[in-house]
Amino acid sequence: MPAKTLALLRTDHKNMARVLAVLEHQIRDAQSDRPIALPLIKMIFTYFREYPRKVHHPKEDLIYSALALRAPADVANSAFHALADHRDLFDRMDPLDQAVRFLDDDPPSALEIFGYQARQFIEQQRRHMMLEETQLFPRAAELLTEADWSVIDRYLADDHDLAFGLEPSAPYEKLRGAIMDLDQILDALPPPDEAGRLLFGEPT
Ligand SMILES: [Fe+2]
Repeated sequence: MPAKTLALLRTDHKNMARVLAVLEHQIRDAQSDRPIALPLIKMIFTYFREYPRKVHHPKEDLIYSALALRAPADVANSAFHALADHRDLFDRMDPLDQAVRFLDDDPPSALEIFGYQARQFIEQQRRHMMLEETQLFPRAAELLTEADWSVIDRYLADDHDLAFGLEPSAPYEKLRGAIMDLDQILDALPPPDEAGRLLFGEPT
């Protein structure tokens, strides 16, 4: 069921894009000497440490492994690149957590280190999702077989998004509230361009 599987992964991407937008907003606040919400930032990194690794990436890893077998060399290379990105994005979490712990102590240099690392993370995550949405998902829909999709779909039964699932867990209330606040700001902006449409969804 490629359509359903890919639709779920695209919904995940829209949710992740919203979380990244909240994080970006926090960095801007920090750089403008406005107070930042440390518990919210910690929640965002917990989300990115847990959800992609446990639920989102396992499905994509299966899709890209199958795609690497069935696609022409350039697409197969992109699939390997995306698989490596998954490991790399996860490896970034320890240094990010450490940068946030330094913020707790509030030394002046901690803000700069945190801002730099968090921006790198946001950019890599966005580039990665762009590659998936524009190249890998369309080619997977075209090239994977029914047998490939039936293996991948077994993972759907385990689907549980702690922040955005049907039964979100209570600690994520604050994150969802921050996203709703930011959505209101974004709604007041002009219609997004091509990249914005991917990151923030279709304008309503
Ligand atoms: Fe991915």
